[in-house]
Amino acid sequence: MRKSGLIDNGSLITDNVSLRRFNTFGIEANARHFAEITRLEDLRALLTSPVYGPMDKLVLGGGSNLLFTRDFDGLVLKINLPGIQTVREDDAHAWVRAGAGVNWHDLVVHCLDHDYAGIENLSLIWGTVGAAPMQNIGAYGVEIKDVFEELEAVRISDGSLRPFGHADCRFGYRESVFKHDLKGQYIITSVTLRLDKQPVFHTSYGAIADTLREMGANLSIRAISEAVCRIRTSKLPDPHQIGNAGSFFKNPEMDEAAFDRLRSQHPTVPHYPAPAGQVKVPAGWLIEQCGWKGKRVGNAGVHAQQALVLVNYGEATGAEIQRLSERVQASVAGKFGIALQAEVNVV
Ligand code: EPU
Repeated sequence: MRKSGLIDNGSLITDNVSLRRFNTFGIEANARHFAEITRLEDLRALLTSPVYGPMDKLVLGGGSNLLFTRDFDGLVLKINLPGIQTVREDDAHAWVRAGAGVNWHDLVVHCLDHDYAGIENLSLIWGTVGAAPMQNIGAYGVEIKDVFEELEAVRISDGSLRPFGHADCRFGYRESVFKHDLKGQYIITSVTLRLDKQPVFHTSYGAIADTLREMGANLSIRAISEAVCRIRTSKLPDPHQIGNAGSFFKNPEMDEAAFDRLRSQHPTVPHYPAPAGQVKVPAGWLIEQCGWKGKRVGNAGVHAQQALVLVNYGEATGAEIQRLSERVQASVAGKFGIALQAEVNVV
């Protein structure tokens, strides 16, 4: 690693930085230039700088939803913008704004500590606040879109700041406008959520109710958070111990007719209702049926507790993980005629 110096706005650019500790897959990749951003004005100055402005850019949050398959020859911006504030309150709600660099689970804990309800089901999701709306993070029956108020983002082409309301973000299942029409155009710098002072509990998904019963705890947002943490830690590998990026694929959605055809051949297929009359089928089940659960190929593997998660057993390259993902996709396509889509961003 070599320092190439301060640019005139004071942001430090470092050349040739290993990205291994900046991605939860633990994949080795080199950043030609790298900057950690802790101040909005530094980000805006960098984007308009004659040297760094024109370079290709890669924006990193917690690095928990991406797979590096190559070195990055431009400028990597690691967004560490800090801060959590309650910006408005009434009897029913509190509006909390957090900097894009805040660790998502730290924001969950902050809300629990203040008795603000709404994101307890999203406990222990890795990654940062800024990355959360990008893919509309979701778990156990709740998505960030359910509590989202607005965000601010900086336009990469000119450093201008723009607010985005709920409708502007066009949220869908693991989707937003930032993955489609505005892909690569904006960097999210802060997010504001509208949280409930009177909690509405979401306990119907999966194992939550059973886990709460086992815990013998009174129903509260803290108890739900604890239950979700227990479920997640039992199924999802800890990236500090074994590299991974959570679900590697999205759960496929299909119309009723396609689902009926699938079920006529595979009567035990689990399924859930999805928006617009679609039916969602768990990709983890499809992958498990193909015999991949717990399988290892070289340094890459399919997690033994949750087949939707691909893992790096230590020294895997991104290309190795990607090859495994393609083999899994081919099996699922061959057995079920379903094309699994990656949920993780492949760089
Ligand atoms: N299943 C299997 N085998 C497996 C895994 C799952 O048969 O190996 C079936 C079971 O029927 C199980 C069902 O799939 O009941 C659902 O499994 P789970 O509750 O673990 O959820 P998921 O659909 O596999 C999704 C999200 C997770 C989120 C959980 C809980 C996606 C792509 N993934 O997984 O999100 O935590 O629901 O809400 O929607 C992530 O996005 O990185 C992530 C971890």
